[in-house]
Amino acid sequence: MLLFKGKTYAEVLTTIHAQCFTKPWKEDQFTSLLDLPSTFGFIDEKGFILCSDLGQDIEILTLAVLPEFRRKGLASALLNFVQKLMKIQNKKSLFLEVNCTNEAAIALYKKNGFQPNGTRKNYYHENGATFDALCFIWQNPSDLIDEQES
Ligand SMILES: CC(C)(COP(=O)(O)OP(=O)(O)OC[C@H]1O[C@@H](n2cnc3c(N)ncnc32)[C@H](O)[C@@H]1OP(=O)(O)O)[C@@H](O)C(=O)NCCC(=O)NCCS
Repeated sequence: MLLFKGKTYAEVLTTIHAQCFTKPWKEDQFTSLLDLPSTFGFIDEKGFILCSDLGQDIEILTLAVLPEFRRKGLASALLNFVQKLMKIQNKKSLFLEVNCTNEAAIALYKKNGFQPNGTRKNYYHENGATFDALCFIWQNPSDLIDEQES
């Protein structure tokens, strides 16, 4: 697993993303995101996670594992790398939005310690239909301990 910043993996991310989403992002969308100093991720050849560092908090921009490598713990490992980095860097929370119909991702986030944190109505638009986004958040336990002590 490799921690990355910058545009080196733009093409690889685009290729993996295209195999994982019905509305894949174009390479120039990845390039624009990767141009931002706040963007970072973890990657191996089977999947990746892309995040935005917002200072105290981290947002998951996207997460994808190639279909033939799913249910082997890779997405959990990618999440855990971000969570470990956040503990080292003393970040507060990790958050994301997920389509309310994405049962696999919802189960993944719940299994990895994320809590529901609201709903964004009609957030996703696909083929003329709209879907709510469910918001999830993971609080860095080290940060919660600091808050209780202060
Ligand atoms: C969601 C996704 C990233 C999960 O990747 P993964 O590597 O298969 O996930 P893991 O193997 O770490 O799964 C961990 C847990 O999540 C849950 N889970 C994962 N896929 C699931 C599925 N298809 N159905 C039900 N639960 C699922 C299970 O609880 C699983 O634990 P288990 O295998 O011991 O039962 C992958 O399915 C994917 O890339 N999907 C398309 C893109 C996407 O939806 N990304 C997330 C957008 S927010």
